[in-house]
Amino acid sequence: MKIIVLAGGLSTERDVSLASAAGICRTLLDKGHDAFLLDVFLGLENAPDNLEDVFTLPGHGLEIAKNISEEEPDLAAVKASRPDQSDCFLGPNVIELCRLADITFLGLHGGEGENGKLQATFDLLGIRYTGPDSLGCAVAMDKGFTKQVFLQAGIDTPAGVCLHKNTTDRSLSSLGLSLPVVVKPCSGGSSIGVYIVNTEEEYEDALEKSFFYEDEVVIETFIKGREFACGIIDGEALPPIEIIPKTGFFDYANKYQDGATEEVCPADIPKDVEARMMELTVKAYHALKLNVYSRADFLLDDAGNLYCLEMNTLPGMTAASLLPKEAKVAGIEYGDLCELIIRKSME
Ligand code: DAL
Ligand code: MG
Repeated sequence: MKIIVLAGGLSTERDVSLASAAGICRTLLDKGHDAFLLDVFLGLENAPDNLEDVFTLPGHGLEIAKNISEEEPDLAAVKASRPDQSDCFLGPNVIELCRLADITFLGLHGGEGENGKLQATFDLLGIRYTGPDSLGCAVAMDKGFTKQVFLQAGIDTPAGVCLHKNTTDRSLSSLGLSLPVVVKPCSGGSSIGVYIVNTEEEYEDALEKSFFYEDEVVIETFIKGREFACGIIDGEALPPIEIIPKTGFFDYANKYQDGATEEVCPADIPKDVEARMMELTVKAYHALKLNVYSRADFLLDDAGNLYCLEMNTLPGMTAASLLPKEAKVAGIEYGDLCELIIRKSME
């Protein structure tokens, strides 16, 4: 099968995406597919005369693969390296190459790659892609909308509200909240710009920092509890995984620094809690009208209450990422998982 693995882009999760996509591209090549890794923003400037030849180019585009750094990527530098210097999200030859492929595997995370816009564009152009459709991606990308959908569906989620940068009264009391709270960008990913806030001073500071990323932030009640994730493929939940950071919470550094976090799958929790988490994952998946695959994130407090934080519609996909680890416990090896996602996306 001819597969373009699309990655990069201009979100803060650019490097995470390049790592996911490299894993996907390598395993698809090992499986005998014609795969090519393409940065959606940079595109392919010097494409071969016969575009079909791209699938046999030495390196298969893997030279753009990256280790995930602890620092956020320098997006200004990426923009400057764009051959045509345009702000168009789709780089040179991207549409043409995706059209030639049997399917485009979305190795993108965050921003325009995960918020439904690329999915809608591809729908209109008749380009097949992996993962959920545009509507589910758009709603799930907005943590404020997600909360409303969860509440309506009877899925517990921490109490919270959206706050726009231009709102003058930002006091917690006017928002109906009290300390401690969590402040996070409304459409962020990989915990970038997420702050746990214990004092009024920290609250002001967190708002300022979080508004750096987006004009809208979500402020929600801080829930002290254990952190879990639960992947789902084609409507079937995978065994949940517990995330145990050695210090602090599962922030960007703990997510991507080797050895910073212990991940336990199957999670060491009572069977009924595990079953409830899996049921809630299926419920959240349907409530948000998702399809193919996704991953829910949860908190479990000391009283046994489960809170669903969000659904990630293009979850991390390196072999060491959460969903692939869960799939492995369910007996699905990484390469087979990537092929399964492709198959389900083509149905
Ligand atoms: N946003 C990151 C990639 C995740 O949810 O895994
Ligand atoms: Mg997320």
